[in-house]
Amino acid sequence: MTTSKNITWHASEVTKEERQQRKNHKSAVIWFTGLSGSGKSTISVALEKALYNQQVHTYRLDGDNVRHGLNKNLGFSPDDRTENIRRIGEVSKLMVDAGLVTVTAFISPYQADREVVRELLAEDEFIEVYTSCSLDECESRDPKGLYKKARNGEIQGFTGINAPYEEPQNPEIVIDTEQYSVEEAVAQIIDYLKTHQYI
Ligand code: ADX
Repeated sequence: MTTSKNITWHASEVTKEERQQRKNHKSAVIWFTGLSGSGKSTISVALEKALYNQQVHTYRLDGDNVRHGLNKNLGFSPDDRTENIRRIGEVSKLMVDAGLVTVTAFISPYQADREVVRELLAEDEFIEVYTSCSLDECESRDPKGLYKKARNGEIQGFTGINAPYEEPQNPEIVIDTEQYSVEEAVAQIIDYLKTHQYI
């Protein structure tokens, strides 16, 4: 719902298509989703670097980073997570409009919230990438020591422990990060982008 009144849309004279032509590739969001520790951030960083090296114009949005700024007023309640994803969705849409291949790495645990972002964009502009990894494996990796804290009761509502993670129903790409290396994951995504003529 829009609460502001008396606002009008002001169109640019440069279109998204013109920006894409200038950059020599399509723009879209590569939306990572998965448990904390499943590899979203690591793969997204490597993917951005690989795309950049192939002359692709990119920008990366990451959960921990965005929560330092734009979303620093949000916590991890279900409503706050929904608002977190809604804002990131809107920012991603602006970036796609600017002609960028936008890479996002948020747990985004709720199917409905991810669907809202998908609906914000055109059909081929939302590429959902599920970093599939068992809770056991994420917990044994525990790169930030947060699973340990969640088990000790120091963190409430931690995804996978005492807050839900809803697996994607129809993601464009699934990466089993227990089986594949970061390099293999990046190659799989770049192959998808080339096959579908994004880049
Ligand atoms: S989301 O659920 O709203 O999509 P987001 O990706 O922005 O989450 O942030 C997740 C990161 O916040 C985790 O990688 C972790 O470092 C940190 N974090 C802190 N508290 C929690 C929590 N209760 N549940 C999940 N992640 C948490």
